[in-house]
Amino acid sequence: MVIKDYYSVSEAAEILGKNPETLRRWDNDGKLEAVREPISNYRVYKKEQLEMFPEFKSYFNKIDKGNFEAPLKNYHVLELFAGAGGLAIGLEQAGINCTALNEIDKWACKTLRTNRPQWHVIENDIKEVNFSKYKGHVDVVTGGFPCQAFSYAGKKLGLEDARGTLFYEFARVVQETMPQICIGENVRGLLNHDGGKTLKGMISILDEIGYNVVSPVRVLKAINYNVPQKRERLILVAVRKDIHIEYQYPKPFSEIYTLKDALKKGALFPTNVPKSGGAKYPNHKKAVLDLVPPKGYWRDLPIDIQKEYMQKSFYLGGGKTGMARRIGWDEPCLTLTCSPAQKQTERCHPDETRPFTVREYARIQTFPDDWIFEGSISQQYKQIGNAVPVNLAKEIGFSIVSFLNKCYVAELETQPKLKDNELVN
Ligand SMILES: C[S@@+](CC[C@H](N)C(=O)[O-])C[C@H]1O[C@@H](n2cnc3c(N)ncnc32)[C@H](O)[C@@H]1O
Repeated sequence: MVIKDYYSVSEAAEILGKNPETLRRWDNDGKLEAVREPISNYRVYKKEQLEMFPEFKSYFNKIDKGNFEAPLKNYHVLELFAGAGGLAIGLEQAGINCTALNEIDKWACKTLRTNRPQWHVIENDIKEVNFSKYKGHVDVVTGGFPCQAFSYAGKKLGLEDARGTLFYEFARVVQETMPQICIGENVRGLLNHDGGKTLKGMISILDEIGYNVVSPVRVLKAINYNVPQKRERLILVAVRKDIHIEYQYPKPFSEIYTLKDALKKGALFPTNVPKSGGAKYPNHKKAVLDLVPPKGYWRDLPIDIQKEYMQKSFYLGGGKTGMARRIGWDEPCLTLTCSPAQKQTERCHPDETRPFTVREYARIQTFPDDWIFEGSISQQYKQIGNAVPVNLAKEIGFSIVSFLNKCYVAELETQPKLKDNELVN
């Protein structure tokens, strides 16, 4: 984020490391009053107001230095719901060893095995696997558990209340292995799922099994972590209760990359994107998208074509900015989905009227060009669309290394020192 004159509520919350709710409360108390931005009339904070907080200075001082930290010893991860390995590759790039990965989908497992024959891939429904043997052998458990509701009536929830959901399985594996830290990855929607109760229930369950969730739970924007895509991921971090070390989310970078950086030789990749197969639009969709300019969408069509293409959605209101959307070279791509030609979420190539190819998709998710995806073209798109962008995962990886290094140093400090005459070989 570059320093500017006005900040939205969510930007100010990110800079100060507070919840937007806290900022609203401060607004009522007069501690930090929002003003109306002159052009948009949105509630915003002036730079001068935020500068009074020490967090403002430290936020902008730390960015751009990167989050890199070398591991002080070998750290190990157990990666659940591993998919095609977006999160796992990022953690590997941050220097964390993958002890085992669990995934149910046979094509995703094949992808993992093809690229990393040395990884131990457990191909099975997580519900069927007991992970107790990893206790004491993994420092971190990670996993993008698919989000499902469970009943929460305002009381404290225990693990058994979530039985039947994949979050239950995630928490059960954490309980079986008791790593120092665990990281759950999910969509932004989990924040407000069932009015926030689902997330509250998860925090309560992690508390019951011996973990404190780092608060506030943050949604990280991939564009702030060297990813040319406006994707957001909720990152839920929990630290084992006997550990009194603070975890810090990775600091964002100020440089924002665009589609050009993804597909052409430049700062992100040393070559242009390799050629590969990809999906095509059906003829009627191609004819419509031919009329949309780069960075344009359905509103750029003649009105009669808008009505015909959008059908009922035309009258429903709302921006629907993802429909009939053509991406421009000089903007980050919109969030990629699991299938590139679906109607609500078209992301057309800037120059040619077609969806992005498989390798273009992979570049936008910052997968390395030599990472092979197995299965049919649609299986490949699904694996890529499901992934945590690799560059975001790498920065999360550095934040884990930094946390584990602090744990390691604290552990060394508490060990009784050997006297000279007790030195061992
Ligand atoms: C969001 S994707 C994970 C993406 C992955 N973290 C990455 O960065 O590439 C969720 C994965 O959970 C897997 N999954 C769903 N149900 C599962 C189950 N019961 N057991 C194991 N894996 C499961 C899906 O096949 C899918 O690949």
